[in-house]
Amino acid sequence: MDVWDNMKETGKKLYIKTWGCQMNVYDSRRMADVLAPLGYSAVETPDEADMIILNTCHIREKATDKVFSELGRLREHKQAQEKKGRRMLMAVAGCVAQAEGEFIMERAPYVDMVFGPQTYHELPQMIMRVTGERVVNTNFPAESKFDFLPDEHTAPGPSAFLSVQEGCDKFCTFCVVPYTRGSEYSRPVAAILDEARRLRDAGTAEITLLGQNVNAYHGGGPDGKTWGLGRLLAAITELEGIERLRYTTSHPRDMDDELIEAHGALPKLMPFLHLPVQSGSDNVLKAMNRKHEISLYYEIVEKLRKARPDIALSSDFIAGFPGETEDDFEQTIKLVRDIGFAYAYSFKYSARPGTPAAVMQKQISEKEKTARLHHLQSLLFQQQTDYNSRTVGLTLPVLLDRVIEEKGQLHGRTPYNQAVHITAPADLYGRIIDVSITRAFQNSLTGEPVSTVPVVKSARI
Ligand code: SAH
Ligand code: SF4
Ligand code: F3S
Repeated sequence: MDVWDNMKETGKKLYIKTWGCQMNVYDSRRMADVLAPLGYSAVETPDEADMIILNTCHIREKATDKVFSELGRLREHKQAQEKKGRRMLMAVAGCVAQAEGEFIMERAPYVDMVFGPQTYHELPQMIMRVTGERVVNTNFPAESKFDFLPDEHTAPGPSAFLSVQEGCDKFCTFCVVPYTRGSEYSRPVAAILDEARRLRDAGTAEITLLGQNVNAYHGGGPDGKTWGLGRLLAAITELEGIERLRYTTSHPRDMDDELIEAHGALPKLMPFLHLPVQSGSDNVLKAMNRKHEISLYYEIVEKLRKARPDIALSSDFIAGFPGETEDDFEQTIKLVRDIGFAYAYSFKYSARPGTPAAVMQKQISEKEKTARLHHLQSLLFQQQTDYNSRTVGLTLPVLLDRVIEEKGQLHGRTPYNQAVHITAPADLYGRIIDVSITRAFQNSLTGEPVSTVPVVKSARI
């Protein structure tokens, strides 16, 4: 008999709320996978849940505050369940759990479990233990959590994430990730290809390979050699039924020629790249420990555009890093003007406990950070709107990945990762169809189907 048989009571409800990066989105799905054999099925609201997991992010201040206010709200649900004589397990997972596990247990005594990103395969054991005691698990086990996670149970949808790499050894001076996710680890090629095939068999047409430094990927190949990301992408595009590939997030230092060439050579690799630069100033990049100069960024962009002329670029920026002068900031503005971004994320520098930048001299005032961020964003948002406007009148293949029932609409993505809304029957969900783009906004497009015949073999579920 399976040791978990006594736990396999059916009909238990699991509510997972996810913050942070795509790796957390992926991890949440895998947690649901781990718990499915124990009778838990995912629900959309916390009402009546038997277990609540908050999958948290520690990257900037407000994220942690949000976790505590969410815990406060959810406590009422737990009390309501307890009044009915039902046990509800409340858990905090993810990067805040890793960084502040003990503190959460102290400050929120109604939390039953706190566990970090490398422990999700141990969830069943933790649940069994917690029925007797509260649990904190922030280990960084030597073996990979991926080896223990079971196969996927939850439907991934037309577009799915697949983590190929975890952790980070780069230690940028502002960033908590090396502390919350541990050191860099690449999954073996065979395990990734297996997971890609399973996603394909479950109806997924588009896969986004994930890693905090996904282009530092260096996994063991079936030939006994170490494969880089370019080679891995090439192997995945050979899987029939997988129509589109993307990867995120990349570091400029790891953008090797094999990967750049892959953008020209692999038609299924979508012409969009998120390549964070953070700042346009060499002085700031040095203080951030980004390990490259700004000239490298220009070189990469030039090579990428040569390999794939229509590639759309996206980036991350930090405004007001300690010591950033007005001149440094102007160099960031110059970089943005020179390159031209289709999309971008920009943030005020946020001092994170335990990181070197938090104790640097010359912290920038909140007022100045806000002013610089607004200046930067007005330029980035304008570029984004202009980029979207340039696609009006084009016919683009769109993967329809979400039904918006109340509006009779479908949501999809262009090859350039733009969100598109079309009015069309819901049964087109999961297909890639040609859409004529009619209007552009800052964050999305609207369009009309040119034909409802899929442009590639149906990717329908
Ligand atoms: N691994 C990726 C980024 C991961 S974090 C890379 O190296 O580019 C995502 C983004 O959050 C970063 O690119 C950065 O722009 C932002 N970020 C991280 N720490 C931050 C901090 N302390 N303050 C403000 N923004 C931060
Ligand atoms: Fe953080 Fe830098 Fe690692 Fe990116 S490369 S996760 S910003 S330490
Ligand atoms: Fe946040 Fe952790 Fe991702 S800190 S950005 S959830 S790796």
